[in-house]
Amino acid sequence: MDPLVDRFGRVHRDLRISLTDRCSLRCTYCMPEQGVPWLAKPTLLSTDELLRLTEVAVSLGIVEVRLTGGEPLLRRDLVEVVAGISSMQGVDGPVEVSMTTNALGLDMMAVPLVEAGMARVNISLDTLDRDTFVRMARRDRLDDTLEGIRAAADAGLAPVKLNTVLLRDVNDVEAPQLLAFALEHGYELRFIEQMPLDAGHTWHRESMVTGQEVLDRLRTAYHLEPVPQRGSAPAELFLVDGGPATVGVIASVSSPFCGTCDRVRLTADGQLRNCLFAAAETDLRTPLRDGAGDDELAALFRASIGAKLPGHGINEPGFLQPPRNMSAIGG
Ligand code: 5AD
Ligand code: SF4
Repeated sequence: MDPLVDRFGRVHRDLRISLTDRCSLRCTYCMPEQGVPWLAKPTLLSTDELLRLTEVAVSLGIVEVRLTGGEPLLRRDLVEVVAGISSMQGVDGPVEVSMTTNALGLDMMAVPLVEAGMARVNISLDTLDRDTFVRMARRDRLDDTLEGIRAAADAGLAPVKLNTVLLRDVNDVEAPQLLAFALEHGYELRFIEQMPLDAGHTWHRESMVTGQEVLDRLRTAYHLEPVPQRGSAPAELFLVDGGPATVGVIASVSSPFCGTCDRVRLTADGQLRNCLFAAAETDLRTPLRDGAGDDELAALFRASIGAKLPGHGINEPGFLQPPRNMSAIGG
């Protein structure tokens, strides 16, 4: 089977599956407090449907699956999904399954997830300050998040990666403290530039904290040296105080990495998106439910990748935010 290659020669190996659009937090850069129209229940893919589509993707060269949300821990069949995917064989071995999570409830789930074959987790942690957490996530759950992070590390979901989005005058001053926390525990911290993806439309180019600013803030306390590498990894890595620990900066807006993108996304309601910022989606749910064969589904994957644009266009004059917000696309 030929790999999933687009018009620009990018080979797609990484599938991100949003398991639900619901979340236990309400981070301001992601969701409004109220008024999010949830996906209708009957449109959500069942466990079997999800595994079937993943199987087709794996036959097309997908070797890595990242489960996202909303919050994937809210999906009741999560362990079953992980077990199903991690038992699939990719072109160079078993499919690697990871998850992006806010870690709420991970204390109960970390061990079963490892047993089901989950390899790694990326955990969102924007602050170590309780009031700031409440301000950013609109829920008083900092302690539960920290508990979940600890549980992930204890269960061997290594390396634990932490994702931080800095917002100006909210948590931007905390950059060095967050790095100190990560270093102390052996977690890998990565700062992500805020992207225009939230339903509340709170993103403004002028107030976005850039990757450069993150580095400037960190350099008030640490010596940082770029690690020469990258590949398709979006994070630019820096050795901290000579290493071996590193910190990452994901400058999706100010320094896009679309040229090496190898990702494709499936939403919880069975729509394939060739980019976070895609305006169009490919409906896989309807053909799947109408009895489409694997070949037909594979052709839809290929058509979606074939229509992929060279970049997200955030920095171009005609840019429009995608109609779905982050919580319904998955990070
Ligand atoms: N910009 C950048 N990152 C975001 N995330 C959620 N919304 C945004 C946004 N608008 C991050 C979360 C999480 C991952 C899934 O994406 O912090 O770590
Ligand atoms: Fe939930 Fe993640 Fe969105 Fe925060 S960023 S509201 S944790 S989906």
